[in-house]
Amino acid sequence: MSDEKKVPCLNGKGLTKIYGANKTRTVAVDKVDFEFNKGEVISIVGESGSGKTTLSKMLLGLTSVTEGEIYFEGKKRDISSRKKRAEYWKGIQAVFQDPFASYNMFYKIDSVLLDCINMRGGKHLSKEKKLELMTEACSFVNLKFAELTNKYPFELSGGQMQRLMIARIFLLKPQILIADEPTSMVDACSRATILDMLLKLRDENNMTIVFITHDIGLAYYVSDVVYIMEHGKIVEHGSADEVILNPKADYTKRLISDVPKIYEPWDLSTVG
Ligand SMILES: Nc1ncnc2c1ncn2[C@@H]1O[C@H](COP(=O)(O)OP(=O)(O)O)[C@@H](O)[C@H]1O
Ligand SMILES: [Mg+2]
Repeated sequence: MSDEKKVPCLNGKGLTKIYGANKTRTVAVDKVDFEFNKGEVISIVGESGSGKTTLSKMLLGLTSVTEGEIYFEGKKRDISSRKKRAEYWKGIQAVFQDPFASYNMFYKIDSVLLDCINMRGGKHLSKEKKLELMTEACSFVNLKFAELTNKYPFELSGGQMQRLMIARIFLLKPQILIADEPTSMVDACSRATILDMLLKLRDENNMTIVFITHDIGLAYYVSDVVYIMEHGKIVEHGSADEVILNPKADYTKRLISDVPKIYEPWDLSTVG
């Protein structure tokens, strides 16, 4: 990464989101600046309520921006029409915390995957080719397509559903993937698998991954770059090593102290 030229793919300037007015006024995201480059894994770390999901919704164009600008591949983002939004979503996609909320429950899994192929301009491919693509996407996430055909999302486990989300991303091949707490609803074993799949997407497709988490240990494990968010503000950012091994902000130090032994090997001699 470091010796390659940095190509900006998603930038924000003074990005702000205010919910409500007067007594209910909440500044969820407060004049945030960032520069995400192509092929980087960027973590946004902060406690619950720090504004991470609101920021990701603004990046995805799922909620309005109160103030500030978003630049996509160097150009000011324009999602003012349906057509422009559809075009933008070819470039940026998401995996959410709760996979159960991400699917239409009455939509079979085949249709979920077929939609992705159609969105990528594959509508006119042969039935066999479509089947081949769907099978490939499922095997990328260690699912067996043959076992999934004709099933509904609610017939899968949480971990399987989360992997199906990633199979969608494999087919859609967006330039940017926003993963908002994608592992918080799954067990530790599925967590490691899902993280490895995300990293594989980056490695094989040079995808930029924005990984949103409250867990600074996970952020250190997966990311090149870390942004620390507190009460809607970015309090510190830099390479994962800079920020986590040599934190400057008190808030970052506190997040790290909550995760003892983040990078040192466990010292078993002190146990028992
Ligand atoms: N739709 C909404 N309407 C009003 N306030 C909201 C809404 N969504 C989030 N908030 C508030 O914005 C702040 C940031 O929330 P959120 O972005 O969900 O943080 P995080 O994802 O880091 O937990 C919180 O104070 C939350 O209560
Ligand atoms: Mg959140």
